[in-house]
Amino acid sequence: MTLDMKVLLEEGKKGCLSEATIESVRQEIIGAMAGIKRKGMDKMLKYMESSDFYRAPASTKFHGNYEGGLAAHSYLVYHEFDELLARHGSGLASESRIIAGICHDFCKIGIYRKNEIKKGRGKGQSGARPYYFDDEFPIGHGEKSLWIAGRYIEPTEKEALLIRWHMGGYDKNYEINEPMIKQKCPELVLLQSADRIVSGWHNV
Ligand SMILES: [Fe+2]
Ligand SMILES: [Fe+2]
Repeated sequence: MTLDMKVLLEEGKKGCLSEATIESVRQEIIGAMAGIKRKGMDKMLKYMESSDFYRAPASTKFHGNYEGGLAAHSYLVYHEFDELLARHGSGLASESRIIAGICHDFCKIGIYRKNEIKKGRGKGQSGARPYYFDDEFPIGHGEKSLWIAGRYIEPTEKEALLIRWHMGGYDKNYEINEPMIKQKCPELVLLQSADRIVSGWHNV
């Protein structure tokens, strides 16, 4: 099943992915990751399969807050990142584009539980959220994504910086490290942009 990007984006805007789209996203991600020849990649793919990565939402009440949202978000961020890198003349290795895009929100695996939506609950009330957040191992956002990826593969220096700092200025530790991060990994700004385009513009 090939992924129809137009359909994915339309379904994302409506806030509900079809089973066919969820499955196509899964196949695209497996195809991209399996093409990377790196020790541990097979184990990482098995982990992703055994976890809720392909079915989890990407947030509780914001972008991608529906089944399959996390995988769709990750795939689209990779895709957008790849396009931005090409447009702006970066020679970042293709496997690093895939790893950074797909793994940047690994911290969201296994932390969202379905909420029972109660009738009459309005926006802003906890019962109005389709999911709630229950992180049993809170070690940070980018930190956790990098930690999880690092259990399976050895990320390169750039991949590590991209995953760890993908939240940019939203991470209070970013500012003091910014000059060195930018020097070592100028591509970070494009990953941050891709993340914001996909979540903010496409709602995935
Ligand atoms: Fe994130
Ligand atoms: Fe993200």
